[in-house]
Amino acid sequence: MAIGTALTDGATRALLLGSGELGKELAISLQRYGIEVIAVDRYPNAPAHQVAHRSHVIDMTDTAAVKGLIAREKPDFIIPEIEAIATAALADIEAEGNCTVVPNARAIQLTMNREGIRTLVAEQLELPTSKYAFAQSFEELQAAVDDGIGFPCFIKPTMSSSGKGQSMVKSADRLKSAWDYAKSSGRVNTGKVIVEAKIDFDFEITLLTVRALNGNGEVETYFCEPVGHVQENGDYRESWQPQTMSPASIKSAQDIAFKVTHEIGGLGLFGVELFIKGDDVWFSEVSPRPHDTGMVTMVTQNQNEFELHARAILGLPVDVGLRRAGASAVILGGVDAKGVVFEGLAQALGVPDSEVRLFGKPEAFLNRRMGVALATAENVDEARVKAIKAAKLIVIKSV
Ligand SMILES: Nc1ncnc2c1ncn2[C@@H]1O[C@H](COP(=O)(O)OP(=O)(O)OP(=O)(O)O)[C@@H](O)[C@H]1O
Ligand SMILES: [Mg+2]
Repeated sequence: MAIGTALTDGATRALLLGSGELGKELAISLQRYGIEVIAVDRYPNAPAHQVAHRSHVIDMTDTAAVKGLIAREKPDFIIPEIEAIATAALADIEAEGNCTVVPNARAIQLTMNREGIRTLVAEQLELPTSKYAFAQSFEELQAAVDDGIGFPCFIKPTMSSSGKGQSMVKSADRLKSAWDYAKSSGRVNTGKVIVEAKIDFDFEITLLTVRALNGNGEVETYFCEPVGHVQENGDYRESWQPQTMSPASIKSAQDIAFKVTHEIGGLGLFGVELFIKGDDVWFSEVSPRPHDTGMVTMVTQNQNEFELHARAILGLPVDVGLRRAGASAVILGGVDAKGVVFEGLAQALGVPDSEVRLFGKPEAFLNRRMGVALATAENVDEARVKAIKAAKLIVIKSV
């Protein structure tokens, strides 16, 4: 495709719906190709706002607000970074045919609600997932657990991310509090929860999967080396690449990721979350966009996940090659405060082969991700030690 000049009438414009740390890196990648980037979030001075050509603050779940802004900005690409979006607005805009919703409006609709994607993958594509059921009342939840889901199980609001409203329940006496918690903290109250049997996995991975045009102009599917990660309370703490896998499990993982992303369609990078035990693989969920655990690719790959997403969207060739083993460790707020100060950056960067990203979020919360430490090494174990060491050396203080 031809790319116009940013900030002129002929500019090629990308509008980011969601402007967190992933959006910030994507904005930078897009700007390297001269794309005019408009960053949108629900609060001012979000990370991607700080590097975009223009920024807006709107309620992204408000259909009229989203449509109004798109009518004014006339983007060529609408790139959702988060799940809480007025998806009906995106479907209408896609139908008008003047711009591309990345990867497409249906993908955003399917993945914003756990019910949509889970039903598609398990029942239509018949791919392996945990045993699950949906419940609209505590009685339905109890019945589903009694009828075969059993304990331990996970209770999650159907619309939530980053572990919000999610809990693991080990015994019957904890079920009611898990129900109450899920009901009270879903992002959008659908009145529904999903209950999933716990998969006793050896490890979990994100398989970054790219649908991009090859040299013949055909859509091809490319797989990055698997990213292993550790989650705490439903949010990621550490990731590394490559995760060693058996030949059979990597084959199954790629097969599942191919089928899911092929069904979703469009161009772009996807984070396919999978659980692995021996040679067995289960699908968990998919992000039709860069994935937080994939931040490790900023130091490990020839082209990181943001560069890959940008290239795929623009119809450009991609290279998913791994350069070196590496790891990421998140830097959490540790305090609830606005305008915090970061100390220890020099010490953190004194760790050999390390890098640090501070996202610039205007307000810190105890468990809010404020930055990430990255490191490379000869192998993943060494890289993890370095990344954790660097992350711990960053000290966040309120003023
Ligand atoms: N059925 C399950 N069996 C075992 N572990 C699970 C199961 N469901 C969730 N988990 C654990 O909880 C983590 C978060 O779950 P999930 O990805 O569904 O939540 P999320 O809120 O979408 O999180 P995120 O937005 O960070 O991906 C998983 O990565 C996994 O570690
Ligand atoms: Mg997840």
